Amino acid sequence: MDTISIAIDGPSGAGKSTLARSVAAKLGYRYVDTGAIYRTIAYHVMRSRVDPRDEEAVAACLPRASLELTYDAGGLQHMSLDGEDVTEAIRLPEVSLCASAVSAHPAVRTYLLEMQRRAARTHDVVMDGRDIGTVVLPDADVKIYLTASAQVRARRRMSELEQRGTPEPFEKILREIEERDRNDTQRSVSPLRRAADAVLLDTTELDFHQSEEALLQIIKEKI
Ligand code: DC
Repeated sequence: MDTISIAIDGPSGAGKSTLARSVAAKLGYRYVDTGAIYRTIAYHVMRSRVDPRDEEAVAACLPRASLELTYDAGGLQHMSLDGEDVTEAIRLPEVSLCASAVSAHPAVRTYLLEMQRRAARTHDVVMDGRDIGTVVLPDADVKIYLTASAQVRARRRMSELEQRGTPEPFEKILREIEERDRNDTQRSVSPLRRAADAVLLDTTELDFHQSEEALLQIIKEKI
């Protein structure tokens, strides 16, 4: 049976995960958060006390990680590392920066490719990340490139961190977003870029509801 896949790519803080999760629930599809998979590898690298920029050392420690992507009864994605649920722990800002560094290594991207493709073979999915439309699911039924200005993305990230009880100053968040943008768009393997056939959705001036409506409209037109 053929499954339907919707690929959503874009820079960090563009609202991909919140929107993708909500749209997936409305369509009855599974939401696959590929950033969480990279974050789990980053968490493993941090725990192993390996320098995330040292490609050889990172590649060598990959087989020692037992990584699992599971879904709870409510359809929420969980990541487990060596049997421990790390879904919450991988959201810390230091894990974000480490994930950005490790995701630049070809060894890491190749290692995670099949896990992501498998998720889309078995279920209708909304999958978000950086290279879903370009590399992971080049034949996705719908491709969307979601973006917003760096200032707006930093503001959104700030309120997210406040809600989680781990506030950070705006300037620091903005600097980190800009650093991750640089890492993600300038790396040589699978850099963040809009696929030629992806629809561009800029949410700088849109609130959550408006962004969701726009996203659903794009999907309806394609499917
Ligand atoms: O979406 P996120 O912030 O949780 O992603 C964490 C990091 O992982 C981000 O800096 C880029 C990387 N990433 C990637 O390279 N490719 C993906 N498909 C998803 C995330």
